[in-house]
Amino acid sequence: MSPLATGTDAVAREASVYLHAYTRQPLTLVRGAGCWVWDDAGREYLDLVAGIAVDVLGHSHPALVSAIAEQAATLIQVSNLYYSLPQLELAEALTASSAFDRAFFVNSGTEANEAALKLARRFGGSRREVVALTGSFHGRTLGSLAATGQPKYQQPFAPLPAGFVHVAPNDVAALVAAVGDQTCAVLLEPIQGESGIHPLSDEFLVAAREACDRVGALLIFDEVQTGVGRTGTFYAFEQTPVVPDVVTLAKGLAGGVPIGAVLARAGADAFHAGDHGTTLGGNPLSCAAGLATLRVIADEGLMANAAERGRQFVTALAPLPGVAEVRGRGLMLGVETVGPIAKQVVAIARERHGLLVNATGETTLRIVPPLTISADEVDQAVSRLATALSDAAA
Ligand SMILES: Cc1ncc(COP(=O)(O)O)c(C=O)c1O
Repeated sequence: MSPLATGTDAVAREASVYLHAYTRQPLTLVRGAGCWVWDDAGREYLDLVAGIAVDVLGHSHPALVSAIAEQAATLIQVSNLYYSLPQLELAEALTASSAFDRAFFVNSGTEANEAALKLARRFGGSRREVVALTGSFHGRTLGSLAATGQPKYQQPFAPLPAGFVHVAPNDVAALVAAVGDQTCAVLLEPIQGESGIHPLSDEFLVAAREACDRVGALLIFDEVQTGVGRTGTFYAFEQTPVVPDVVTLAKGLAGGVPIGAVLARAGADAFHAGDHGTTLGGNPLSCAAGLATLRVIADEGLMANAAERGRQFVTALAPLPGVAEVRGRGLMLGVETVGPIAKQVVAIARERHGLLVNATGETTLRIVPPLTISADEVDQAVSRLATALSDAAA
């Protein structure tokens, strides 16, 4: 398929100035509003990618725009040498009436997991081992990469930090056997995202909770992708029988402004002064964006909308020709295609039908739109996707 003509020639320009780490779609996005984005040739797309499960309020939500503008005009960055009010207020908002008592802010998902892993090792004392899952994704810095149970991401960068053990998702016996007197934490995504939207069973989550309690290890949930309302509740674990000791967030937490967070119950607060830190993490700008994002999620009922629109997607997508299965919760859905056509569907949807959707593999389409998506936009998305699926099959 030939690349779309673009008005800014970004494909050629990037090739000579940017490190070649990305496989990008041939599309340059220049503007967004709600669930819609526009490219540099003025073409409109319905966005089911949302910055990879980030833009929970849609693009350029007026409340987020004005919170960012107001904070930018007041104070952007002061470092963690000093106290700052937006940081305190966001920590208070995330710990009020939640399972967690302490917050710590960083700038991304991988940094949130790095902080959680360091917290676990500090908590564990001489116990250094972390049990994680095969097929998981926790980020690309070396500690998070060591936790990520996918050799394709790990092998080019070996040796990775030691002390990580991997077991298969939903294999209760393997998990119970792996957690022992050297374990300081079990780290898992309640719904594995990057590997194709695979929810873990309640039985497995309960077994993880019990195994951690048996040896006094921390149960850490990576809710970088599942968190901030995406599955219909603020945390995905709220729809399970299990509460973790520590949770990590990032992606949608500040509506698209870089941020990450570790939240922990008071008993897991093992850091001493100087153990961890970040220059930009928790700066006034990102925390003001985070506060505005939480406010809009509550004011506009976006978690309920995520649950309802998710059901609408599942009901409409499941019977489509070319769809084998629809997995996930709320607005974090994986559509399994009949045959390895997912990447072709992505290209056809973008080029012919003005729809942005992402593939996590040869047979899985990922649907993670803004939580603001309307019933009419879901109908439009399904009809565009149905046509792209039948085009790909033809
Ligand atoms: C579950 C999970 N954890 C961690 C990360 C890494 O986040 P970031 O890309 O912000 O470092 C991702 C990113 O996709 C993720 O899905």
